[in-house]
Amino acid sequence: MKSLFRKSIFFLLAASAVSCVENSKPNYQYMPNMYETVSYEPYGSYDIFVNQQEAKLPAEGTISRGWKPYEYENSPEGYATAKANLENPLPYTEDNLAEGKALFTIYCAVCHGDQGDGKGILVQREKILGIPRFDDVGRAITEGSVYHVMYYGLNAMGSYASQTSIKERWLIDMYVMNLKNELEGGPEIPFEEGEDLIPAVNADKTIEPAETSASEGQLNQTEE
Ligand code: HEC
Repeated sequence: MKSLFRKSIFFLLAASAVSCVENSKPNYQYMPNMYETVSYEPYGSYDIFVNQQEAKLPAEGTISRGWKPYEYENSPEGYATAKANLENPLPYTEDNLAEGKALFTIYCAVCHGDQGDGKGILVQREKILGIPRFDDVGRAITEGSVYHVMYYGLNAMGSYASQTSIKERWLIDMYVMNLKNELEGGPEIPFEEGEDLIPAVNADKTIEPAETSASEGQLNQTEE
């Protein structure tokens, strides 16, 4: 009995030792593509692609989720129509104004100044000239013109279309109009109640699945 016990211990040890020997040469692979995928480096260049470019542009005519085309042209006429017709779809709430202020401080204050008086840090250091005040009578900016200028830029001022979402531009716009009012010494504008009509970028990802919202008797906003 004792020897049988010893034998089995020896056998176990031997078996584990054998199984630990590293197999340096893999066995024959049948259809190796199933083991080794033919993948490309992101942004690599490969002859197989048009322009040798791995990164593709989106298919023509497609737009990314949550993005809407801007209907006004980058021309003096487009500017004038936007200035006259385009209005901020966001309600004037304390939260929206605070968000607008934060974004304005990030993107615009270096030139336009925290008060919108055209005396940002770059102007004080004489790095850039010709920054207008937001209460400039000759310009008479409106919600529409501010949005238009952020979208396309204006001469020395670049476009902010790629750094900001639609909602962020309207938030900044709200704060700019508020600064204009302050510079003009206008009366404080009372806050409004209301819901944001524009979802934040990627907000659709948090929308409840269709079944749950339907069972709660709500309309699923992602479908018409
Ligand atoms: C690099 C400096 C710079 C930054 C940053 C900058 N601007 Fe400007 N902005 C200018 C200049 C210069 C002009 C005058 C352009 C002109 O009329 O030739 C201008 C003009 C404007 C005007 C008046 C346009 C009109 O209709 O006459 C508005 C409104 C404005 N900017 C808003 C913004 C907002 C909002 C931001 C932030 C998203 C911003 N700017 C960021 C330089 C800047």
